[in-house]
Amino acid sequence: MTDTLPDLLLIGCGKMGGAMLAGWRERGLSQVLVVDPHAPSPIAGATLLRDAAEIPQGFAPAAVVLATKPQEAPASLPAYARFAGQAVFVSIMAGKTVGFMQGLLGPGAAVVRAMPNTPAAVRQGFTVAFAGPGVAEGQRALADTLLAATGAVDWVAEEKLLDPVTAVSGGGPAYVFLLAELLEAAAVEQGIPADLARRMARATVAGSGALLAASAEDAAQLRRNVTSPKGTTERALAVLMEQAAWPDAISRAIAAATERSRELAG
Ligand SMILES: NC(=O)c1ccc[n+]([C@@H]2O[C@H](COP(=O)([O-])OP(=O)(O)OC[C@H]3O[C@@H](n4cnc5c(N)ncnc54)[C@H](OP(=O)(O)O)[C@@H]3O)[C@@H](O)[C@H]2O)c1
Repeated sequence: MTDTLPDLLLIGCGKMGGAMLAGWRERGLSQVLVVDPHAPSPIAGATLLRDAAEIPQGFAPAAVVLATKPQEAPASLPAYARFAGQAVFVSIMAGKTVGFMQGLLGPGAAVVRAMPNTPAAVRQGFTVAFAGPGVAEGQRALADTLLAATGAVDWVAEEKLLDPVTAVSGGGPAYVFLLAELLEAAAVEQGIPADLARRMARATVAGSGALLAASAEDAAQLRRNVTSPKGTTERALAVLMEQAAWPDAISRAIAAATERSRELAG
């Protein structure tokens, strides 16, 4: 995309907000104001403000991106209510519903709620978004462009689907990193030196991810491609694929995270 992005306001420039801003810069920015009380100054390509009160009177952003921790929302959001009516609010705050945000920004505020994940830091993120009532087609397209700066974007028509999305793709990188940890520990148990075990586990997880991303084949087929009849991988998979092992464990883990996302929703 070569079009310059319109004026933007980014609230919170931590891991996620910073990753988004870096992606936007690659696409060509006009004016971006960042509000963050403690982010290191300066921020390349943007103007850093320490408080919403410092936003110049005439500034009229096309989008306000909300990337603070969810617990900051009740105190910080009302300061941005004056942009409702002109801007689309794009929130990546986990668990904060469109209704909750409209309660703080005004009932007519156009709110897109999105759930990204941490591979956003290397533009390999996956974000699922939901457009609340009153979000215009052009605002949704702008939100899509802003979110796509950190990877792929998909949209759902029902907000409640963001609970299982949070469980699967929001938290998903943690489960994959856990796999790398466990592979490393098991390699050490089998006598492999710790440094080699670490590099082997990391490279195996990263390389498998790259192969999956590059391949048109199903994950199941890629798994079969590694599995010779009566071979070593088949022996390992017989342990992992027992119903009570990974199939039930992953299913229970995702159900538990989905339930927790529902509990946290506000
Ligand atoms: N990390 C993930 O895996 C992930 C995945 C999906 C969604 N999210 C969501 O993304 C959001 C940001 O997460 P993150 O990991 O990027 O957190 P983070 O690194 O802590 O970034 C939040 C930033 O906002 C700043 N901040 C705090 N209060 C503020 C205020 N009132 N106004 C403006 N800025 C303020 C923080 O400053 P201080 O550090 O000084 O407080 C920090 O720089 C969260 O709502 C989270 O739910 C994260």
